[in-house]
Amino acid sequence: MRVPILAANWKMHKTIGEAVAFAQAFALLVVDVAHAEMVIAPPFPALAAVAGALRGTRVALAAQNVHPEKQGAFTGEVSPPMLVDVGCGYAIVGHSERRHLFGESSAFVAKKAAALLAHGVRPIVCVGETLDEREASRTFAVLEDQLTGSLAAVSPEKAAEVVIAYEPVWAIGTGRTATPAIAQEAHAMIRGWLQKRFGATGDAIRIQYGGSVKPDNVAELMAQPDIDGALVGGASLEAASFAAIVRYQENAK
Ligand code: PGA
Repeated sequence: MRVPILAANWKMHKTIGEAVAFAQAFALLVVDVAHAEMVIAPPFPALAAVAGALRGTRVALAAQNVHPEKQGAFTGEVSPPMLVDVGCGYAIVGHSERRHLFGESSAFVAKKAAALLAHGVRPIVCVGETLDEREASRTFAVLEDQLTGSLAAVSPEKAAEVVIAYEPVWAIGTGRTATPAIAQEAHAMIRGWLQKRFGATGDAIRIQYGGSVKPDNVAELMAQPDIDGALVGGASLEAASFAAIVRYQENAK
């Protein structure tokens, strides 16, 4: 029922030339892939060139951030209509690096998600607990708080457009992946919350796992009932590696 969605979050990596070379190589490696949606989120300067390189492929383009306003005096920011203009179908919001390094609140993430939906761009809304929060048995409370805040302005009619990314902060860029069981436990909690908030639509919302996803651990994560995709940082920077992640079914044991 839920189409798997594998997304590459390049963070602050790749020049325009490197990004286009990746897009061309990756498109060839996944030309026959039909089982999943594929998304690439380059840094802003490479969006236009990658959009061109992906034209005619099944690979969608995402931004890594957005500002909620349409236009105005917001130096350094990029608006939803600008993302539409450059060809973004998705945008990541509320990534833990934005929450923790740049002080973004769930209330601000909620404005971004609503603004994206109003412009027809699908938000990938990230949530996840820190190691301290997990060790204090606060994981579910933190997730509930972030979901409640970040999705506050999403209507049930638009909810199916949203993708959630569960990214435990302790697993991001650390090589320390959540076990499939730990990830599934959090995904099941998130699923329950989505069903309560959005009714039957809660079953249709894709929930990605993120945090040290690699070609050799993606299949067992994807085998979990409430894991519908992956948001991949480090292992998405090489075309062959991200293509192997997209082709997780072929590696399944
Ligand atoms: P990682 O990053 O795959 O390098 O752990 C994931 C993310 O932050 O989206």
